[in-house]
Amino acid sequence: MAEPIFKENVVIVTGASSGIGRELALQLADQHAWLALAARNSESLNAVAAECRARGARALVAPTDVTDADQCQRLIAQTAQEYGRIDTLINNAGIGMWTRFEQLHDLTAVERVMRVNYLGSVYCTFYALPYLKRTHGRLVGVASLAGKTGVPARAAYAASKHAMVGFFDSLRIEVAEHGVSVTMAYPDFVATGARFRNLGADGQPVVDAPPYAANTMTSETCAQLILRGVAKRQRDVFVNARGKIGSWAKLLAPGLVDRIALRATEKGG
Ligand SMILES: NC(=O)c1ccc[n+]([C@@H]2O[C@H](COP(=O)([O-])OP(=O)(O)OC[C@H]3O[C@@H](n4cnc5c(N)ncnc54)[C@H](OP(=O)(O)O)[C@@H]3O)[C@@H](O)[C@H]2O)c1
Repeated sequence: MAEPIFKENVVIVTGASSGIGRELALQLADQHAWLALAARNSESLNAVAAECRARGARALVAPTDVTDADQCQRLIAQTAQEYGRIDTLINNAGIGMWTRFEQLHDLTAVERVMRVNYLGSVYCTFYALPYLKRTHGRLVGVASLAGKTGVPARAAYAASKHAMVGFFDSLRIEVAEHGVSVTMAYPDFVATGARFRNLGADGQPVVDAPPYAANTMTSETCAQLILRGVAKRQRDVFVNARGKIGSWAKLLAPGLVDRIALRATEKGG
């Protein structure tokens, strides 16, 4: 049987303390990857690291706030020091937003989502790139379908994910000559705790975001699909038909896609 792709592959996962990032770490651990787990909550990171080690991985816990460039630099340096190289960087840390733009009290939420989702990915990528070039490694951005189309009540979130997509789509062209691949993932609704952490009009988490009932995927399935695409160095990973068809529909009937986005945010899913 062929060796798993990520066996002894040095993988940094940001946002590894919960949700999709945690699940990515666990599934990579099943392949005996050498992990660096980053997020702010060290207690949760330690718990994930213990699970990863129990599955046969090595796991470095690296508490990091990705909005701080110095902390991102430290994450990359610590990982390189621990394992001697970096093969894969998964920029997954993210935060949502759930409020109409006109209802914002101030710009706190807008700036926060941009700092975490976009600049956090840029910082980690900037410091990791020299290492990834040496290993002909893999760069990954976990975006969202909101990185491909506008979504009401999520304008700043969609903007931050569009920014990620523009950044990584450009970088892909630049780094191809070094053998570094760039994979962008576009999850739809995934059942994680993220819906309780969406920022509201006052910049604080809202608890009444839609229930995400229909079309909700488990974080296990989402992580599985992402890792399959990253292993194959796929350009894009759409996790369901809505994502795949939506990209084409947006070109042919953008008004229809707007109506689907409106319905999805009103009903959830
Ligand atoms: N769930 C969905 O429906 C969905 C759909 C499309 C895309 N996505 C994207 O998928 C990614 C993971 O989302 P999820 O659903 O798994 O959410 P989640 O369960 O809330 O996990 C988010 C992760 O990001 C980390 N994080 C947040 N702010 C951070 C910061 N400043 N510095 C470092 N880490 C930070 C959190 O850890 P700490 O709090 O410990 O820092 C946590 O580990 C996000 O980029 C999200 O936008 C999710």
